Amino acid sequence: MHRLTLLLSLLFFLSTATTFTRGHNITHILGKHPSFSTFNHYLTLTHLAGEINRRTTITICAVDNAAMSELLSKHPSIATIKNILSLHVLLDYFGTKKLHQIREGTALAATMFQATGSAPGSSGFVNITDVKGGKVGFGPEDNEGNLDVFYVKSLEEIPYNISVIQISKVLPSDVAAAPTPEPSAMNLTDIMSAHGCKVFADALIANPEASKTYQVINK
Ligand SMILES: *[C@@H]1O[C@H](CO)[C@@H](O)[C@H](O)[C@H]1NC(C)=O
Ligand SMILES: *[C@@H]1O[C@H](CO)[C@@H](O)[C@H](O)[C@H]1NC(C)=O
Ligand SMILES: *[C@@H]1O[C@H](CO)[C@@H](O)[C@H](O)[C@H]1NC(C)=O
Ligand SMILES: *[C@@H]1O[C@H](CO)[C@@H](O)[C@H](O)[C@H]1NC(C)=O
Repeated sequence: MHRLTLLLSLLFFLSTATTFTRGHNITHILGKHPSFSTFNHYLTLTHLAGEINRRTTITICAVDNAAMSELLSKHPSIATIKNILSLHVLLDYFGTKKLHQIREGTALAATMFQATGSAPGSSGFVNITDVKGGKVGFGPEDNEGNLDVFYVKSLEEIPYNISVIQISKVLPSDVAAAPTPEPSAMNLTDIMSAHGCKVFADALIANPEASKTYQVINK
């Protein structure tokens, strides 16, 4: 078969296959809430969406577009944004009920930031505490016990796979917000994967000659 035909049938096969994929899709969940479109967009850009979809028993602490613009106004690199947003992915399931009934009123949650190994010491943990007045406060462990970010509302709960909640603002962590260098050289294969052309990118990896051609064309 001609290589392009093969590629196209492969693409068709995969696009039909995804229709039957089980499990949650964070992009789809947040897509129902326009005031979280920026957060949603950056989950995709940083590839965190894929990692979130692969995991279960997690909680996503989303922030609205206003909170995201405040973060973006500091012009962080995409790698820094990834670190910050991965701190908003708790590796445990916290539905609204559980948040308001935390044992002893306080808990430490591991995050995806901590799981990536980019976070030194306890900085990848988020402290969740039931504070006075029925409020639930959140604070990264490296933020000296400040719990000035609060639970706002639940956006979606799929027990016990994924809970998506809104918190009042971006979790302030100096460690996660530390500037991270951009990848030194952009790699076409990676760029295409990032834009949903994973199959084509994989075909390129499998075919070094074609890959060379594309690297040249794109210079
Ligand atoms: C939870 O995740 C598992 C594993 O991906 C999946 O089989 C199950 O259908 C999911 N449950 C719900 C309610 O979506
Ligand atoms: C997740 O949902 C988004 C928006 O609805 C869609 O574009 C994307 O293809 C979905 N991803 C998967 C893996 O199904
Ligand atoms: C969370 O922070 C509060 C306030 O600083 C503190 O009292 C509490 O012990 C911390 N919880 C955990 C589990 O470390
Ligand atoms: C680009 O990245 C892919 C996958 O990460 C890797 O296999 C390939 O060798 C890289 N190509 C170049 C030119 O660095």
